Amino acid sequence: LELPPFVDVLPLPERLVPAAHHGQPHKLRVTMREVHSKIHRDVPASRFWAYGTGSSSSPLAPVIEARSHQPLEIEWVNALPAHHYLPIDYSLHGCGRDLPEVRAIVHVHGARVPTKDDGYPEDWFVPGTSRTCHYPLEQDSATLWYHDHAMGLNRLNMYAGLFGHFLIRDKAEDALNLPSGKYEVPLSIYDRDFTADGQLFYPTSGDPDHPWVPEFFADATLINGKVRPFFEVEPRLYRFRVLNAANSRFFALSLSEQIPFHQIGSDQGLLPSPVKLTSLLLAPAERADLLIDFSQFAGKQVHLVNGAFEILQFRVAATAAPALQTGHDKMSSIPATLRTVPRIPESTATVTRTITLNEYQDKVGNPMIMLLNRKHWHDPVTEQPKLNSTEIWEFVNLTEDVHPMHLHLVRFQLLDRRTFEVFSYQMYKKLRYLAPARSPEPSEVGWKDTIQCPPGMITRIIVHFDGYAGKYLYHCHILEHESNDMMRPFEVVA
Ligand code: C2O
Ligand code: CU
Repeated sequence: LELPPFVDVLPLPERLVPAAHHGQPHKLRVTMREVHSKIHRDVPASRFWAYGTGSSSSPLAPVIEARSHQPLEIEWVNALPAHHYLPIDYSLHGCGRDLPEVRAIVHVHGARVPTKDDGYPEDWFVPGTSRTCHYPLEQDSATLWYHDHAMGLNRLNMYAGLFGHFLIRDKAEDALNLPSGKYEVPLSIYDRDFTADGQLFYPTSGDPDHPWVPEFFADATLINGKVRPFFEVEPRLYRFRVLNAANSRFFALSLSEQIPFHQIGSDQGLLPSPVKLTSLLLAPAERADLLIDFSQFAGKQVHLVNGAFEILQFRVAATAAPALQTGHDKMSSIPATLRTVPRIPESTATVTRTITLNEYQDKVGNPMIMLLNRKHWHDPVTEQPKLNSTEIWEFVNLTEDVHPMHLHLVRFQLLDRRTFEVFSYQMYKKLRYLAPARSPEPSEVGWKDTIQCPPGMITRIIVHFDGYAGKYLYHCHILEHESNDMMRPFEVVA
């Protein structure tokens, strides 16, 4: 199905700014519900499940705009239908036929939250009920996001549309005078397949008892709910909060004609200084805070490109709105420095944990299950870092895929990546490095919460476990991997 590109306007999500209450935590109410929405002018409306507010029928979740150190309370309301419309695999862990078919739980990805409100996969609740969660937000400004995390179902619930941006702002960020208001744009990028009549299609393995697929790359790339939309911009600086919300797909982003752009932040907030780039590889769940300067392109078009494929068209107006009219007295510019990100010294780590990423195949070579340290989700907890201690976690990737590994609760830093000989590691438990360790690129020297672990490499991160004691989890953020069974608990002990 070839759809004419750039006929739909890029939709922008509603902004939810928590209202001030004297001495009370700010309160919001967000509802999960079914909506019907057109992904393209020429396609009939598709059914989605999405977060929303009030009576809005938008398929785009509201952007929650919170402030650092201003606690927030959110009532999450499950108003979804009682039956799922995507193929459930009842053979997966925590996904039996004895359970209600539709279950949901919200996780704010990247938020430092006590365990009871973190969105533990087994804390799901059903249509007709709600759950109120408290977010202390004792953390720096960052581009976070919220999404479903229900055990065995979240790859389907998120594919149906249950995700959105969650921004935390702070004074350090305010002081930078970055583009704001209509010049700050959240972009969610994800891939989807559709049936001929425009309905969401999620593939199955062909085995009715085990329909799970190990990963899945769809044909259509959506941005904020539309296939190849266009966006009218002024010839000036813009800030884009980019989120890879895909189940499995990595996006190799660039601008047409190799136009450079600047990355100013990654998963957990601002980088030390802007990094000039011409391309960027974003794994599922990773975020990039980007500045794009359209001032040289007045009256022209610029495209956002994935690989060699144009996914979004920027139509640059001939002139910028005068500053007075927009209420912005100072036109933003690219700051020279952003914030200090002190490196955690390796010598402060008291424990080093080795975590293998494993894939097991069936007789014909199809992946059947993916594990961390050869353990299943329901095996007893093996990682028990002490509260306020620092640890090094090394992810030993024995598979042929890049796995974006995510830890709940914490932010961390990438130490390095190093290629090693997989065969001798697996056969003889011998670690032989094949090259010197590679230090992080400038765009990876900030705080991260999801890290790309390439095949045949050991990726080392350093983590300070502060915040709260309790049970959390870490997992690959390829949602198909996570559900079978590349997800493990860890417990921070006081
Ligand atoms: Cu994006 Cu366990 O989460
Ligand atoms: Cu994975």
